[in-house]
Amino acid sequence: MQYNKKIIQHFMHPKNVGEIKNADGVGKVGNPVCGDIMWVYIKVGKNKKGEEIIKDIKFKTMGCVAAIATSSMITELAKGKTLDKASKITRDDIAKSLGGLPSIKYHCSILAADALHKAIEDYKKRKND
Ligand code: FES
Repeated sequence: MQYNKKIIQHFMHPKNVGEIKNADGVGKVGNPVCGDIMWVYIKVGKNKKGEEIIKDIKFKTMGCVAAIATSSMITELAKGKTLDKASKITRDDIAKSLGGLPSIKYHCSILAADALHKAIEDYKKRKND
């Protein structure tokens, strides 16, 4: 399996690993292809314009090199973004930001994108309850 340097770097030194106690939203996703699991935790704040943003984000992933690298990358992409923009991050955006994923590993990026979207949905649901 050939991974590029950026993927290896995110795998060896993943950003924002862990759990947020009292998170505002949590997304948990299992990958149907391989059975790996990922959790995303978000804290929501507001920017100067009063828009809701992802103030803090962390992840826990039980998965392969690509799953960990894409998880790390999505936390970097989402941090500081408005909820609206963060919910539009796609797995293609993640793959591009990592300089491309081996095609056999493309399914691994589903975890990161779906878990983030679920965490945002969870926040919105809690807010409306
Ligand atoms: S093999 Fe399971 S997420 Fe990559």
